[in-house]
Amino acid sequence: MNEDITNISWRAPSNIALIKYWGKRAHQLPDNGSLSISLEKTSTTTTLSFKRKLRLEKNISFEYYFHGNRHLRFEKKTERVLNDLIPKMPFLTDYELVFQSENNFPHSAGIASSASSMSALALCLVSMEEIVNRKKLSKDPFFQRASFIARIGSGSASRSVYGGIVSWGNIPFIDPSSDDYATPYLIPKDSRFHQLMDIILIVSSKEKTVSSTSGHALMNDHPYREGRISQANSNMSKMTNAIRNDNYQLIGTIAENEALSLHALLMTSSPEGLLLKPNTLHIIEAIKSFREITGLDLFFTIDAGPNVHLIYFEDQRDSVLPFVQDTLTQFCEDGQWIDDKIGNGPELLTHEIEF
Ligand code: DP6
Repeated sequence: MNEDITNISWRAPSNIALIKYWGKRAHQLPDNGSLSISLEKTSTTTTLSFKRKLRLEKNISFEYYFHGNRHLRFEKKTERVLNDLIPKMPFLTDYELVFQSENNFPHSAGIASSASSMSALALCLVSMEEIVNRKKLSKDPFFQRASFIARIGSGSASRSVYGGIVSWGNIPFIDPSSDDYATPYLIPKDSRFHQLMDIILIVSSKEKTVSSTSGHALMNDHPYREGRISQANSNMSKMTNAIRNDNYQLIGTIAENEALSLHALLMTSSPEGLLLKPNTLHIIEAIKSFREITGLDLFFTIDAGPNVHLIYFEDQRDSVLPFVQDTLTQFCEDGQWIDDKIGNGPELLTHEIEF
């Protein structure tokens, strides 16, 4: 082993937004506040290996490997992010960096892979910053810094540095809250929200035709832009009240309204983005009728893709699983679905380095 090389590994979760971030201004600042659930299993693991450059030069030197292979497209995206980070992390140009990253789910399938990958990358960079500056941060400032750095890579990644329910954006009734970084939303110890489950129904694992980043840009001149911002603010206020009051029906109504609004905005963008598939609609219809018949606390949400997240509570799992198997899997690509739940947030996989 080369003594000059330091390795840091973080596993960071994906997240699913109940209140959608859609539209942004300069420097990755959101047009509206968002709220998401961090998942337990669906995650990215990234290892950053770094060593000091022999000759100092003021450019970033790095390589990016995905599942063991050099990945030039991810490398390009990472290069943009690292260059944006130089003013905030000037030490980056003094080291040779190698990132090795793995997802445990199909990427670009409407599952927020940029959230988990940029969050894992940011966590590695903030750990590296501690080491090169020989200054250990305590827990809260560490994760706030990681969220701030992750946001530069991908807005939704700012929320993936925390577990549980997480908000991002300046929201008047959430304190502290900021457009710069996300905030964990405290849920009481005995709350049913610790039992939230998410079944991700893979309608298509094909690459999306509209990336989230280009979708956000479509909001700049969108005729419904102002209306969307006020709708999101009002939904955020209703959603946080509903969570506080354990009003599961209202939580579902708002989450579904957010998902359908996101796609309505996409469809009415110029150029239009039609990402829903016929099977997405079959799944939505089936979930609605199952809820009507059983009265269970479950609802759907969808990100900027065709796949559907079925959100429910663990205490009703015995009724939900047969419904998924018997009714919903027929609408999934090769019957694929991912069994996930609310998670505890990222995990450092290497030892804490002492200094
Ligand atoms: C629909 O965070 O992927 O998933 O900031 O350009 O990387 P960039 O976009 P991204 O957008 C996510 C949009 C969304 C809703 C959400 O997660 O809030």
